[in-house]
Amino acid sequence: MFCAQSYLSYYKGRLVGTIGDIGCFSLNDFKHISAGDGGMLIMKDEELYYKAFRFADKNYDRFSDDPMAMRKIEFLAPNYRMNELTGAVALAQLDKLDEICRKRNEYGEKISEGIRDLPGIHIPEVKEGNKNSYWFYMMRINEKEAGVSRDEFSKALAAEGVPNQPGYIPTCVYEYDLFLNKNACPGSDCPFGCRHYGRDISYYRGLCPTAEEVLNTAIRLSVSEFYTDIDAKEVIKAIRKVSEYYSKK
Ligand SMILES: Cc1ncc(COP(=O)(O)O)c(C=O)c1O
Repeated sequence: MFCAQSYLSYYKGRLVGTIGDIGCFSLNDFKHISAGDGGMLIMKDEELYYKAFRFADKNYDRFSDDPMAMRKIEFLAPNYRMNELTGAVALAQLDKLDEICRKRNEYGEKISEGIRDLPGIHIPEVKEGNKNSYWFYMMRINEKEAGVSRDEFSKALAAEGVPNQPGYIPTCVYEYDLFLNKNACPGSDCPFGCRHYGRDISYYRGLCPTAEEVLNTAIRLSVSEFYTDIDAKEVIKAIRKVSEYYSKK
């Protein structure tokens, strides 16, 4: 399971990262915790651990006592080895994770509580058994109900001193030209032409309508473990002011 920035979040009562065989987290420079870049895997199965370890290291077997073990490579693997300095930074960050996620969760929930009654503003819904550790705060605008376009709401909020961005990535990844036109590698149809790829796979707008709708309706606010109650109150006040202005127009 690719968890990216879902640190210490829960889905249906289960800690994200423990669903499936392997949980994969990002440590890039803008996540809850960072080691500069790279990521980490978590898993229960010991055999998978050794496999993952080898896969990140050209499939070299560093655990064997047999000096020839490295020559017995089962299949080609890349070199994604993390250096020790980065690993040490990552380990030190792990100790802070509880507190970082607790504060972010508190902040995000506060914002939701403060704006949940506003017309046309949809807060991130956290269902029973789930927990959000708020990498950022994403709300969605129903333009008809809110009486304003998403982009105008975003600008008005910025004018109130609340930094925010409309949307997230510009489009779903499958809408990138290289997927729509299947031209990832110049001069070749690789990997789409590979017989293992699956001939009937095609990418088109509308493939994941909900994801596309989220990108078209979302507004993203930053969240930080250093934000205080005063920050939350000011953000809530600004969102309410903008919403009330347009909904009463
Ligand atoms: C869904 C998703 N995938 C991947 C990434 C990037 O992770 P990394 O930079 O470690 O590859 C992010 C975060 O930016 C993400 O949100």
